[in-house]
Amino acid sequence: MPGAMNPAALARLMGPWQSAAGPAYRELADVVRLLVLDGRLPLDTPLPSERSLSETLGMSRTTVTAAYALLREQGFLSSGQGAKGRTRLPRSAAGVAAPGMSAPDGLLDLAYASLPASGEVVHRAFSAALNDLPALLPGFGYEVLGLPVLREAVAARYTAAGVPTTADQILITSGAQHALNIILRAEAGPRHGRPAKVLVEHPSYPNALDAIAGSGARALPVAVGGPGQPHWDLDAVEATLQQHRPAVAYLVPDFHNPTGKLMPDPQRRRLVRAAAAAGTVLVIDETLRDLNLNGLDSQHVAAFGSCVSVGSLSKSHWAGLRTGWIRAGREQIRRYAAQRTTLDLGGPLTEQLAAAHLMAHFEEPLPARLAALRDQRGTLQELLAEHLPTWQAAAPDGGLTLWCRLPAPISTALTVIAPGFGVRLAAGPRFGVGGAFEHYVRIPYTLDPGSLETAVRALRSAQNRLEAAPQLRRALPEPPRVAIA
Ligand SMILES: Cc1ncc(COP(=O)(O)O)c(C=O)c1O
Repeated sequence: MPGAMNPAALARLMGPWQSAAGPAYRELADVVRLLVLDGRLPLDTPLPSERSLSETLGMSRTTVTAAYALLREQGFLSSGQGAKGRTRLPRSAAGVAAPGMSAPDGLLDLAYASLPASGEVVHRAFSAALNDLPALLPGFGYEVLGLPVLREAVAARYTAAGVPTTADQILITSGAQHALNIILRAEAGPRHGRPAKVLVEHPSYPNALDAIAGSGARALPVAVGGPGQPHWDLDAVEATLQQHRPAVAYLVPDFHNPTGKLMPDPQRRRLVRAAAAAGTVLVIDETLRDLNLNGLDSQHVAAFGSCVSVGSLSKSHWAGLRTGWIRAGREQIRRYAAQRTTLDLGGPLTEQLAAAHLMAHFEEPLPARLAALRDQRGTLQELLAEHLPTWQAAAPDGGLTLWCRLPAPISTALTVIAPGFGVRLAAGPRFGVGGAFEHYVRIPYTLDPGSLETAVRALRSAQNRLEAAPQLRRALPEPPRVAIA
């Protein structure tokens, strides 16, 4: 463990800081807090002992002790005297709700499959973004296509992955969901007065299904990987494309939500060919692509031919960035930018600057993130085997969730009574069209092991209740429409 920070080095970082406008201990705490917030004083740094800092600064030890106490109270210093206290960020800033891995009503939230930020990395990116911001302030602030520096960084990442891409093939969006809505507006409007058709996997990502329904298009579901069927049924995909010639096909081949499956490369090649032959715009959602838990090899679908790729930093880094992108042909990107202005006039610039910094250090947070997810995936599988042995869940290749087959069609009933046992669930039918998937529920392994255990025990109790009172199932109301991610 590194020793305490040198007091002279801290004094240098602080620069001239005393204004005599308030009590010295408060000013000292303020300057240290600012250093932490703007990233110049890294997190987890042991501060100098009170004695050494007071000697270096030529102030009383009481002042330094009071400043450290205030920093601890504000959450910027871990407990422990002097050198034992380390810089950190408060769990919740004043006036800001504690971050939600649990829902506002205190329930454990299993409807969201999302992770907290890769703390320090994201924080550093925002500090750097604030330094870059002054250069943008003289501009209008509208960047319909996204900031050039970020478009270039996204394009470079595709190029490095074997898919040559230039910045004019990238449109920066406020996340993947926003990207999909833009694409649907541009590609799936009514044709000759009839709703457009959109091929979807079945099950699929609920917010995508909602966006398709909301755009007035009709979803054409094609089954993906039921039990005993490890991958996509490409014969069925090809047949649907050939027969219906849908305007759009929306697929999540990279750790599919909710099953976590990875489409093998030969299927990717067939998919691209079949979509091209049908004149269908192939939309590939790569939001989960970096959550490759088993280290499997696969190429971007775009490496096999024409498609529209959608990406996001939400799962790899943090959903709070609300930053994603579309990669497509130049002319398509121009059309999508024109459509975008019906929804918004560009994304926030500070987030895009931060995203550009994250792109430069893209891999940095991933090893720790993936290691934690692998552990939690294993924990959840063990907990289900122990407490809910009648549930079946195939091991996912990656992503954030287990798609569990229930012993009976009780998904909606379970969702309705689960809050009474302390958890919030998304019912299986939200992942399908026409009421399918009553036999399924998606459980994320994004919570810490302790919370996963609490959640699984709660689900066991809820299932017991349904088994003990089967008549309950008929009497239950519609489940509340919870937000899902
Ligand atoms: C497949 C898929 N697409 C899109 C999204 C939404 O991503 P974003 O937060 O970038 O809008 C998610 C989030 O869970 C997802 O799993």
